[in-house]
Amino acid sequence: NRWNVYVTNEIPKPALDMLEEYCNIEVNRTGEVLSKPVLLEKVKGRDAVLCLLTDPIDAEVMDAARGAKIFANYAVGYNNIDVSAATERGILVSNTPGVLTDTTAEMAWALLFSVARRVVESDKYSRMGKYKSWGPMLFLGQDVIGKTVGVIGAGRIGLSFAKRAKAFDMKVLYNSAKANLEFERETGGEFVSLETLLKESDFVSIHTPLLPATLHLIGEKELDLMKESAILINTSRGPVVDEAALVKALQTGKIWGAGLDVYEFEPEFTQGLLELDNAVVCPHIASATIDTRTKMGIIAVTNILAAMKGELPPNCLNPEVYSS
Ligand code: GLV
Ligand code: GLV
Repeated sequence: NRWNVYVTNEIPKPALDMLEEYCNIEVNRTGEVLSKPVLLEKVKGRDAVLCLLTDPIDAEVMDAARGAKIFANYAVGYNNIDVSAATERGILVSNTPGVLTDTTAEMAWALLFSVARRVVESDKYSRMGKYKSWGPMLFLGQDVIGKTVGVIGAGRIGLSFAKRAKAFDMKVLYNSAKANLEFERETGGEFVSLETLLKESDFVSIHTPLLPATLHLIGEKELDLMKESAILINTSRGPVVDEAALVKALQTGKIWGAGLDVYEFEPEFTQGLLELDNAVVCPHIASATIDTRTKMGIIAVTNILAAMKGELPPNCLNPEVYSS
């Protein structure tokens, strides 16, 4: 029995082809995020919905999708889905962990180096025709090798990020909900309080999920603890950082720079952020490689197809809903 599946935005073709082989699908090909009313309309009568982190999947959407068996999120983060509301309704929820781990960690390093060595700012300078001669004082940045890096969140992505610090002879500090022995073994990282991490790190990279406990984890008080030469990197979720406080810290030189991929009010930027030369601001692209985005699609589809066969989806977030 072919399922009727809605896909809320275009994803890489191999994944759509795989889904289409077994299901009847409709894909939002407008290239735009669906408005709530359209989303409510489109999910009606579907057996499954493949959704994005930009789709707020709340109780209202689930009720509109009455009869749906699974919401398969095309992301590792799932703060856009009310998982307990899904569980109450007997709807499965899945995400796409694992495949984007290294890709996201890589982007955190790309941001770190971009800010430390002022790559974006100096590139703009060249393009504006301002480069007249080599200068001893031109675009002085921060060295990375041998410095201390603080990793907030010791899950898969934090671990992948921290592993690479070895190659740059860096000292690794980390803070997370609890100490992680695998992390310590693989990175030589030392578990410290958030306060110590912020005080002692030259670079701080955030790899925690967005949870009530991590909302505004980094605010004015925390930014105050950081070194004036420090750089903050965020590839997790925007609301983990109080963005207004961050803009202020960057404006006043309280910290040296920031490399951001996510924003508190995405896709909006807090006023003042885009005017700052000491911030690199990417549009939530940390998992955006051809390989990884394809794999994420295959995983989301695999979760849907498992549910269709009556199997437990491999990346189910509420397995208590599943009954064979
Ligand atoms: C991207 O932000 C993801 O959660 O996959
Ligand atoms: C820089 O280009 C140098 O040669 O020191």
